[in-house]
Amino acid sequence: MKIAKVRVVNVTKRFGDLVAVNNVSFEVYEGEIFTLLGPSGCGKTTTLRIISGLEKPDLGKVYIGDNDVTTLPPQLRNVCLVFQEYAVFPHMSVYDNIAFGLRVRKVPKEELSKKVRELAEVLELTDRLNTKAGRLGISEQQRIALARCIAVEPEVLLLDEPLTFADAKVREKMRRELKKIQRELGVTMIYVTHDQLEAMMLSDRIAVMNKGRLLQVGSPIEIYDNPQSLFVAHFIGSPTINTIEGVLVKERGRFLVKRGEVAIDVSEFMSSYHNVESLLGRNIVIGIRPEDVYLDVNGPIEGVVEVIEVSGERLAIHIRVFKELVLKALVPIHEIVSEGERVRLSFNLEKVHIFDKATEEKVVLSRVK
Ligand SMILES: Nc1ncnc2c1ncn2[C@@H]1O[C@H](COP(=O)(O)OP(=O)(O)O)[C@@H](O)[C@H]1O
Ligand SMILES: [Mg+2]
Repeated sequence: MKIAKVRVVNVTKRFGDLVAVNNVSFEVYEGEIFTLLGPSGCGKTTTLRIISGLEKPDLGKVYIGDNDVTTLPPQLRNVCLVFQEYAVFPHMSVYDNIAFGLRVRKVPKEELSKKVRELAEVLELTDRLNTKAGRLGISEQQRIALARCIAVEPEVLLLDEPLTFADAKVREKMRRELKKIQRELGVTMIYVTHDQLEAMMLSDRIAVMNKGRLLQVGSPIEIYDNPQSLFVAHFIGSPTINTIEGVLVKERGRFLVKRGEVAIDVSEFMSSYHNVESLLGRNIVIGIRPEDVYLDVNGPIEGVVEVIEVSGERLAIHIRVFKELVLKALVPIHEIVSEGERVRLSFNLEKVHIFDKATEEKVVLSRVK
């Protein structure tokens, strides 16, 4: 199987007044799982359709391997797109479904049969080959659609929310299978989803989109640990990141984030940076993930526990610090704490992010040291 890289360069697509894809550029490496992630309507499907050739960009270029394919029709691109809806032929057998593209390409009968059986083996469909596709479950139908795609040896596999209609358990299983198959074949895969957890677990790299724009590209860990904008910080992670909004002021030598009655002392954090004074008087947003907030009897922040939820191996504690500020802390499940209790909190200072309220972008500060 040939494996290709994909490059999208300054692509813009309008539908009337709507800019569905706004000057988007990214590069997908050979053999990786690259995910377009973002809320519904942000332009993921349009971007994928532009790569597949089903849609023409108004501006910009698409390269597959070293070839500029921008004006090539889909059938000349050697890519395969698996849609959100299952694209199986329900009245055909699984065998005929998988063989479909090969027959269109007039592949000789023996070669075709060998190919179908090999793929059925990889996708665990061998004992289903004679069954009508429409009689099988969601997971099997999606595997059939995938097999039919892979059969024609595309250089790039495009998948648009293929797990949307499956329930949580099936999704988890299919996600693992998908990754296993992709690793076995080594094919370049571009995956689309609105589900951040799915993107985190499946992808080698993620591109986060919002309102037609590409906001950030990176490995799941990079995106999680170093969000470059408030949108990305919010969109990734569950429970969602804590945000504290306010104006940065200096009072009696202390740095405070103030808004209405909210006043959070961030001196300890700010003292590890050089150019903090430049932020004084500006509206900022402090971002801190729930797992980076600790219960700490000597912590600088005080509040009352409102709600405790069990979240897997941890407790998600909601602490009201001010009337208008609730912070979430994700703590070990054995932590002894009860609703209504007054607690003190501290932050992992290494993990505090600062965003400019106006631009919603990360403020870059230079570290003392
Ligand atoms: N063929 C079309 N005609 C008009 N508007 C479209 C068309 N396709 C998509 N859109 C609009 O473009 C935006 C992006 O859509 P889409 O790429 O499907 O987003 P996503 O896949 O991220 O949900 C949406 O506002 C959608 O309504
Ligand atoms: Mg879509």
